[in-house]
Amino acid sequence: MDRIAITGGARLNGVIPISGAKNSAIKLMAASLLTDEPLRLTNMPRLADTKFLGKLLQRLGTSVDEKDGPDGAETVLHTPEVVSSFAPYDLVRQMRASFNVLGPLLARTGTAKVSLPGGCTIGARPVDLHLKALEALGAVIDLHEGYVYAQAPRGLRGAEIAFPFVSVGATEHAMLAAVLAKGDTVLTNSACEPEIEDLAECLNKMGTKVEGAGTPTIRITGVARLNGATHSVIPDRIETGTFAVAAAMAGGEVRLTNTRAHLIESLLVKIEEAGASVERTNDGLIVRRNGGRLKAVDVTTDVYPGFATDLQAQFMALMTLADGESVITENVFENRFMHAPELARLGADITISGREARVKGVEQLTGAQVMATDLRASVGLVIAGLVAKGETMVGRVYHLDRGFERLEEKLGACGANIRRIKGDGEGEEE
Ligand code: EPZ
Repeated sequence: MDRIAITGGARLNGVIPISGAKNSAIKLMAASLLTDEPLRLTNMPRLADTKFLGKLLQRLGTSVDEKDGPDGAETVLHTPEVVSSFAPYDLVRQMRASFNVLGPLLARTGTAKVSLPGGCTIGARPVDLHLKALEALGAVIDLHEGYVYAQAPRGLRGAEIAFPFVSVGATEHAMLAAVLAKGDTVLTNSACEPEIEDLAECLNKMGTKVEGAGTPTIRITGVARLNGATHSVIPDRIETGTFAVAAAMAGGEVRLTNTRAHLIESLLVKIEEAGASVERTNDGLIVRRNGGRLKAVDVTTDVYPGFATDLQAQFMALMTLADGESVITENVFENRFMHAPELARLGADITISGREARVKGVEQLTGAQVMATDLRASVGLVIAGLVAKGETMVGRVYHLDRGFERLEEKLGACGANIRRIKGDGEGEEE
């Protein structure tokens, strides 16, 4: 298993181009099941998760053609016919978002058998809202032996769906099914994340009418058939935020390009409060910090446009060195502090109580061996490693590879002392 070794202390200076958003790309890939024409996605990130979903889609009947186009990496997905409506446990367990093929399969073929994803390291993560939305659209759903059996022999029909609380995945899933339903669908209390707007934009190019994405009320006019389209994936706001925090942590000057500062405004104001300067530019932002100790700042995660839960681990890493005590409250997932004990191995002083973490800033972190527990937690450890004295060795790097494209290359180009150590699988921890 690969590991990442970082020798802390180098400032970061340079330019980092931001990739397309993982959490948009995987929903857009699922949308390709809705049409028998090719869907061309540009600005595609090349990640373990997109590769993985590509494999599942191939089993379902999609050809997946990855190439370098004029606008960078692109993937053309084409499903002339759905050859299987079955997504087995092994595939869904490895990547929860695979569950999102359920709605498109059902909408296109009238039947689907998809494994329930199960829990994960950040929380129980049930899918009850996804299933209720599909039922409201007319699906008949049975659960047995860990599988969702969904039927809609006469097709789905439009409905009014009021989500009891905000869910990104359930909002997207309802959209992915409702576009091929008969009649209109209205989703209320929808998630407003930028990835939802991106999905709506792509679905509109495919011939449906989705209005209001990015607001709590989304109206969808179902159509009998969708066409192919070309769509550019929005920039990854979590990757953008991660590098912004890395620059604030290590000091120096880093320009992030091919992105949009407004996507992470709730993080940027906190970085500025902590003592780094941020310049918003036409194609992204520049983060600068030259000396001086960071200040402790409190954050509370929330749905968009609030502070993203996917940036919480990175911000906690930043606060480990701040002057004072920072209170970090996690409101989206119930178990998302697994990085705290690993940061403590580097010398951080963190006390967890329920959904609250109290981070007392220390003067210095010291390198150690640490273990990644999930994607965002692991990049938080890398950020801490950038400033820890000596060497930090991050294990279980496959978590990072799920969602960060060429991380060590991008940080290395800015002067970080970071390298990947290829594992032979022998004698290493699991
Ligand atoms: C998406 O997960 C992202 N994943 C997550 O990013 C992100 O942290 C999350 O949204 C919040 O922004 C993808 O887009 C693939 P939710 P999702 O449904 O859709 C509960 C990463 O690292 N809930 O908005 O699963 C749920 O348990 C990942 O890239 C139910 O109870 O998030 C959670 O507490 C991690 N029932 C809350 O709602 C449901 O049916 C919000 O989850 C659905 C959700």
